[in-house]
Amino acid sequence: MPTTTPERRPLRRTAASAPWLAAGMLALLLGGCGEQPPEVIIAEPGEIPPAKQRPGDPEAGRHALLNRAVVTCGLPYSAYAASTGVPAPAYDLPGREGRNAELPYQLTAHTADSGVELVTSNCLGCHAAPLNGELVIGLGNEFLDFTGDPVMAVEAAGAYVEGEAEAAEWQTWADRLAAIAPWSMTDTVGANPAQAITLALMAHRDPETLAWSDAPLMDLPDSDVLPVSVPPWWNVNKKHAMFYNGQGRGDHVGTMILASTTCTDSVEEARKIDRWFTDVAAYLATLEPPAYPWPIDQALADDGERVFNRECKECHGRYGRGEHYPNKLVALDEVGTDPLMAELAVDGAEDYIRWFERSFYGRHSDAVPGRGYVAPPLDGVWATAPYLHNGSVPTIAALLNTGERPTYWRHDGAEPDYDQAALGWHYQALEQGREQLASLEEQKWVYDTTRPGYGNQGHDFGDELTGPERTAVLEYLKTL
Ligand code: HEC
Ligand code: HEC
Repeated sequence: MPTTTPERRPLRRTAASAPWLAAGMLALLLGGCGEQPPEVIIAEPGEIPPAKQRPGDPEAGRHALLNRAVVTCGLPYSAYAASTGVPAPAYDLPGREGRNAELPYQLTAHTADSGVELVTSNCLGCHAAPLNGELVIGLGNEFLDFTGDPVMAVEAAGAYVEGEAEAAEWQTWADRLAAIAPWSMTDTVGANPAQAITLALMAHRDPETLAWSDAPLMDLPDSDVLPVSVPPWWNVNKKHAMFYNGQGRGDHVGTMILASTTCTDSVEEARKIDRWFTDVAAYLATLEPPAYPWPIDQALADDGERVFNRECKECHGRYGRGEHYPNKLVALDEVGTDPLMAELAVDGAEDYIRWFERSFYGRHSDAVPGRGYVAPPLDGVWATAPYLHNGSVPTIAALLNTGERPTYWRHDGAEPDYDQAALGWHYQALEQGREQLASLEEQKWVYDTTRPGYGNQGHDFGDELTGPERTAVLEYLKTL
């Protein structure tokens, strides 16, 4: 997503299955010397081919996910304790050990080489969320508030740091966060900045050595951060490619650990994380969606299954007996949803794609964006509102009826009730956009679909259904 591209080289297009061949050939030809820039490959819409995943131990992976630091810089523990008073964790998360057992689930304890004990952020901050009072690992948290400036919190905690070793650790962390701060902020609660943060981190690192550079080495992405909804982890096992536009190809570990490399400063460090992360990836592949906790009208759901298999199966697959998931990348003009995210990952993103392919992360994985979005598996979809890649549609009822989609809407605070008829969190449709609201505190809750990247258009496949058919499909989706 760089803002400027002085010269746009034409991109090579290939059939959906060819990138594997091309990437493999290229690796052979280059022999890893990296002198010639890797070629940029754009995927055509269509079926995404499978890719072999490195094996791992799921049980060891769960333990590592809950207890090991993937982000290795952070706030010295003593400063954390002094500034927060160490509140008791709000959720019980079995398997958290030692210091981790007393930290909130979003934080992990880590002892740095300097001997200073740190508190660092982990994957669960975005990829775990409470549902009916229980914390569900793998459910994306759609209520995170990234509207504040992280630098203020970092500075405030810095006041509690004591001694030289702690000060040095705090400084590294503070510098990293300051460099990426503009890409860590969104202006709507729930909109997630992970994509922009990742690009900003890449821009500050040498792809060959992964060394940090205070000055960016590539054009930085636009700091008008696009809203992104956090996908659930329990679908990772079915998906041949990671991410909404299917760009995370090959072995998935390379793209997973790239998501949290604020502090990985050398290839050696990246290799260490990569080694235990094959276990984490294996654990993610075992996750199941939560079961719908309220009553289901099974006869109605059976009707819905017939409609679904007529209208939706082609893209989203079949569930239950004869289960099949087609792994389809659907072209932008076919799905019709907000195109900006997919377009920006192709147009002018060449430097980032090349960075990835040249780096340690590109050894087993590939960045192959496509001009479209993957039709996701719909397992547990009732739990993952709001919908579409940008979280622009609050309920599945509204997703299946374009006339019902609100232009401006907001949730009632961070813990709204579940709407069992519409499938999603209760929301309020508003008459007007955020500009009409006086305080920023109020504005940040308003999802405004008229803004670039926030659009709620497209995916009009439900419009052809009759009212009763739609109700039946909604009932069926509760069973997945
Ligand atoms: C700041 C929030 C955040 C953090 C922290 C984070 N992620 Fe994500 N993750 C996201 C978002 C947003 C997406 C969707 C991005 C996209 O598709 O372009 C995502 C996508 C993914 C996907 C792809 C899922 C799919 O269905 O395509 C995987 C796997 C994943 N993350 C794993 C991880 C792991 C492992 C970590 C920790 C190392 C992590 N993430 C840390 C926000 C986050
Ligand atoms: C031509 C292919 C296609 C057809 C047909 C189709 N979908 Fe989709 N669907 C998609 C794509 C692609 C996305 C992701 C779009 C995006 O995120 O912008 C999607 C997204 C969704 C989502 C949101 C998932 C999420 O987690 O955000 C739901 C729910 C859904 N579809 C249900 C249905 C139902 C029900 C039908 C049948 C009435 C249907 N779809 C028909 C391609 C299709």
